[in-house]
Amino acid sequence: MIRKYVFGDPIETEAVVKDFDVCSEALPYFDVDKESGTLTKKMDQKDRVYGLGETLRGINKRGYIYISNNSDDPFHMEEKRSLYASQNFFVYWGEDKKFGMFVDTPGKVTFDIGYSEIGTFSIGFEDFDAKIYVVEGTDVLDIVRQFRGIIGKSYVPPRWAFGFGQSRWSYMSADEVREVVDKYDECGIPIDSVYLDIDYMERYKDFTVDEERFPDFENFVKEMKARNIHLVPIIDAGVKIEEGYDVYEEGVAGDYFVKKENGERLVAAVWPGKVHFPDFLNDKARAWFGDKYKVLVDKGIDGFWNDMNEPAIFYTEDHLKEVFDSIEDYKGKNLDIRSFFAFKDLVGSIDNNPEDYRRFYHEYKGKRYRHDKVHNIFGYNMTRAAGEAFERISTDKRILMFSRSSYIGMHRYGGIWCGDNRSWWSHILLNIQQMPALSMTGFLYSGADVGGFSADTTEDLLMRWTEFGIFTPLFRNHSAEYTRRQEYYRFTDKESFKNIIGLRYALIPYLYSEYMKAVNNEDMLFKPICFDYPDDEMAAEVEDQLFVGSSIMVAPIYRQNATGRYVYLPETMKLLRFRSFDDYDTEILEEGNHYVRALLNEVLVFVRKGRALPIAKPAKRVEDIDYSSITYECFDCEGSDYELYNDDGISR
Ligand code: GLC
Repeated sequence: MIRKYVFGDPIETEAVVKDFDVCSEALPYFDVDKESGTLTKKMDQKDRVYGLGETLRGINKRGYIYISNNSDDPFHMEEKRSLYASQNFFVYWGEDKKFGMFVDTPGKVTFDIGYSEIGTFSIGFEDFDAKIYVVEGTDVLDIVRQFRGIIGKSYVPPRWAFGFGQSRWSYMSADEVREVVDKYDECGIPIDSVYLDIDYMERYKDFTVDEERFPDFENFVKEMKARNIHLVPIIDAGVKIEEGYDVYEEGVAGDYFVKKENGERLVAAVWPGKVHFPDFLNDKARAWFGDKYKVLVDKGIDGFWNDMNEPAIFYTEDHLKEVFDSIEDYKGKNLDIRSFFAFKDLVGSIDNNPEDYRRFYHEYKGKRYRHDKVHNIFGYNMTRAAGEAFERISTDKRILMFSRSSYIGMHRYGGIWCGDNRSWWSHILLNIQQMPALSMTGFLYSGADVGGFSADTTEDLLMRWTEFGIFTPLFRNHSAEYTRRQEYYRFTDKESFKNIIGLRYALIPYLYSEYMKAVNNEDMLFKPICFDYPDDEMAAEVEDQLFVGSSIMVAPIYRQNATGRYVYLPETMKLLRFRSFDDYDTEILEEGNHYVRALLNEVLVFVRKGRALPIAKPAKRVEDIDYSSITYECFDCEGSDYELYNDDGISR
């Protein structure tokens, strides 16, 4: 059962697609303090909290503070409170009562789950205007299912997007892309897509292609298509200000860009220097920007990633002027403890400055809103612009789309990647821990930059990360400019990489089938162990193993130099220790704790009792996977069936 409560005058987000009568009774579970705009709840010692989508820290969110305030922050450290997303749904798992809650407001929300006071959960609002949905059900999975039922079906990518994608900031020319594909093909490592980062554009202008570095782009796309390779270009939120650039000119003529209070267009800066931001919240601007994707779709492109859409702001013209003006005061001075730090703060305040998010406005549903009031739905609406347009410009074919910034509701139009992580062992664990909360909030097509985006990767880290990455729907190796190159073929043990990625392809029939079932039945694709074992106290402690779909559990290794790990089995399972899709040993492991060995090139998969895992012969491309080659690895599945979902993988 779901009840809706309304506080103040909430701004519509269109996250929920079902109509509800507003409940006039008092909000259950939390005490409401209207004056301060806070909800509070006492937590018993054993109570747990799950969800909140893409955030930092563990699977059980208790013990920290999380702020929904979409941020371009490339330092995903433990102490951070905000990442790129606001996915305000959580499940409260109390000793005697479990419930779900969706806090629907596009403004800033603070979830203080035992941070300020260890036994208190409080939810704070900058403006106490919100719709709150309270979900009650028979168990956690039922609560999640009901919630997913009111926010609309999750986005479905084309099946080829389950293949491996190689990315880099940036492949600088068509020849460099050719080389990547050649190298993969030479090594026999499967691959389906290559990502084009900002340098494919002409001076970072959206919907343009640099003619010199990518000459005759349309034919280049065709050439890649002929090899069954999909090129996936990036699109950024800011539109370069440049006379004669059609997107800029049209945006000005159509009045599609966000403006300041005085009616002037906001001048901000990102990669190309000065840009305007389209007002994605405005229906007309959204339709206009969405139709721009056609420029590339017409050239044969069938996948995109939307970036810098929190939005990231390097500086605004106004604030930069303020900084330069104030810098004068420090010139020639003997800077002491206070003035030195004030100076440092001043210079450090240039990018993503909170004041800048209060400088511009949106025309949304017939009203004018200051940006910070609707901040968390900006990226959502950029991706919605694309998603809505794809329905018009690609009526029969699905198009790959995922975004950096998001809000619940965006899951209907695309997936997400988890932004600028690092080549750190702890970020493999973070990736594992983010997946179930993303499943809860409907973001099924998700994944992180495998191998790590910033910092230099190492061969062992990349291998361990890949051993988890092969289970995430979005499986992409991406790294930043100036970091060590991390295409798989650059490392010593190519054979093992080939085998591990081959295993991914062998499992695509299963992963696609489970994905589609999760979409259609509002199920979670990644589940914490305790969601299926609610009465098992040990299962509640497990933060680094996940059920992936209905048949298997994974227990990835994410510690440097480890040759095994402890695994907790809530039930007796069959361990498959894969070196490749057809080279693996099996062992029945009884319920309980085990130390399970796994050499650097070995992937641990646990098949559940009475379930079956389809395994196909890997192929170079998803298209070539031979479904008639599928065999089933079962554990005690006498009389039980596996329903393998499949379709043509491309039609809408
Ligand atoms: C942002 C993105 C990253 C991309 C870079 C350059 O940092 O998060 O993935 O490579 O911009 O476009």
